[in-house]
Amino acid sequence: MHVGESLRDSLPVSERPAYRECALTRVGYYGHKNMMPAIGYAIREQNRFVFDDPAIDAIEITFERADDPLRVERYIGDIDVDHVSVHALKLSPGSPDPPGENYLSAIKDIALENGAESISDHLGFTRDCHDGSEMGHFAPVPPTYEALEATCRNIDVIQEYFSPLRFYLENIAYLFRLEGPLGEAEFLSELLRRTGCGWLLDVTNVYANATNFGFDGFQFIEQVMPAAGRVQMHLAGGVFDEKVNMYIDSHSHPIPDGVWDLYRHALRVAAGKVDAVFIERDQNFPDEDGWRGEARKVRAIAEEMNQPEATV
Ligand SMILES: [Fe+2]
Repeated sequence: MHVGESLRDSLPVSERPAYRECALTRVGYYGHKNMMPAIGYAIREQNRFVFDDPAIDAIEITFERADDPLRVERYIGDIDVDHVSVHALKLSPGSPDPPGENYLSAIKDIALENGAESISDHLGFTRDCHDGSEMGHFAPVPPTYEALEATCRNIDVIQEYFSPLRFYLENIAYLFRLEGPLGEAEFLSELLRRTGCGWLLDVTNVYANATNFGFDGFQFIEQVMPAAGRVQMHLAGGVFDEKVNMYIDSHSHPIPDGVWDLYRHALRVAAGKVDAVFIERDQNFPDEDGWRGEARKVRAIAEEMNQPEATV
């Protein structure tokens, strides 16, 4: 493969699957990689140098970082990995109306420029309407049938616009929950089933919510996973804030043991449908051994869980 060339593009023309078919039959398409997910980091200036590590074959671009009008070169430069995904922050699929076309097209441009095969954002809302007020953070969607309808409609618009790139929806960490007739797992499962979009399972967000609101994170993952056709994962480490008595998903510390346990469990129940796993780190950056060590551990666990006896 060459810089800027996707895995699909590297195949002889006669062997290239159609994009849609490629996305739907990815396990077979990536047969040479067995059932292993691609593994990597959300790229930051502080970790660009570790993408030469043999444990890393995926990269996640945060759209809001890459969307710089002064940038003249491709955002990921000459980094050459198998799986590139673009992570957006303001699609706000839980808003009453879909995102505006300017934002959609800017995201897709960055995705195509960097050879991405997928785009993701969060299950939440950050604004009231597409040219309305931005809150600057995700709020949880009210778990109602009306919100479910609106979110499904928005995701349909998003998926149609981004096609043939696959779209994944991430579960957020929240500091409060809204009341409604649907449980979180039920809402998310129904959304995944109706839209067919992928699940970006943020394992740390499940850990944080389970810790803060007293539910079983293992069970939550088991409940939602059957509804997900394809899966990406996020892993990160946060801190327990004694002042508010909550675990905060601050991306500031090594991945804690409780998240590693949930990650193993998620790999077990999602066997065969995990496309990529990304580590997120935004504060207290580690040294080189820290960066490389965590990616290697993510891969070692995925390899261990990829053994036939580990998933039955
Ligand atoms: Fe995340």
